Amino acid sequence: MNNKPVAVITGASRGIGRAVAIALASGGYDIAAIGRSVDSEGMENLAQEVEKTGAQFFPVGLDISCTECQIEVVANILERYGRMDFLVNNAGVAPLERSDVLNMTEESYDRVMNINLRGPLFFAQKVAKEMIWLKEQINDYKPVIVFITSVSSVLSSTNRSEYCVSKAGGKLLPLKRNLLYNLIKFFSYEQQTCSCNYRCQQRDRQGGCNCFSF
Ligand SMILES: NC(=O)c1ccc[n+]([C@@H]2O[C@H](COP(=O)([O-])OP(=O)(O)OC[C@H]3O[C@@H](n4cnc5c(N)ncnc54)[C@H](OP(=O)(O)O)[C@@H]3O)[C@@H](O)[C@H]2O)c1
Repeated sequence: MNNKPVAVITGASRGIGRAVAIALASGGYDIAAIGRSVDSEGMENLAQEVEKTGAQFFPVGLDISCTECQIEVVANILERYGRMDFLVNNAGVAPLERSDVLNMTEESYDRVMNINLRGPLFFAQKVAKEMIWLKEQINDYKPVIVFITSVSSVLSSTNRSEYCVSKAGGKLLPLKRNLLYNLIKFFSYEQQTCSCNYRCQQRDRQGGCNCFSF
């Protein structure tokens, strides 16, 4: 079993996931980095950055929407490290095409929901079951599961409703009094990158307002 705690980050090949992986590596975690491909430039670059911190790096290929593929990934991470202490469910996508809810297609809804909510939920479920078991095996073991959600979990965008619904779902997962909540520190983080706040509303790329708080 690994002496150091282990962080598992989905969507680690770039963007927020990459930054989180490097920060956790600098903070004393060994890293299991999940991306759709282990050979991408992003993953190779991340390996170098993580290893510079002295942390171990384990790249794992997974399309997070493939729930039947997840069990093997969890097994591979446990085989490599023997533990998982911190899961950051970060992988996520926007709709390929933004459009009003009246024009939203079932295909786009399914794609976004499968990657942003269904896949991460069932991945977290599998990791959580292992974490519950690991609580009995490791002294002072304090597992954490984080969902990177979005300001779109509380602000609706008129031209990407499926994204907002997926992020609102992620925000609602850590329900009080459910099993996970009691056993694992489990919370969502509302990533907000636009300069707006809940009062002044989000701007779209042309500078127009496309969000409404509720
Ligand atoms: N950036 C923002 O403004 C913003 C604002 C609010 C919330 N967020 C949320 O923050 C998270 C990260 O956003 P970001 O901007 O850093 O995204 P990004 O730069 O587009 O990176 C997305 C990451 O997710 C991975 N990914 C995409 N689809 C996947 C799939 N089916 N299975 C596994 N991995 C997949 C990508 O891996 P590949 O290399 O395989 O493509 C990539 O590593 C997302 O959940 C997003 O919704 C972002």
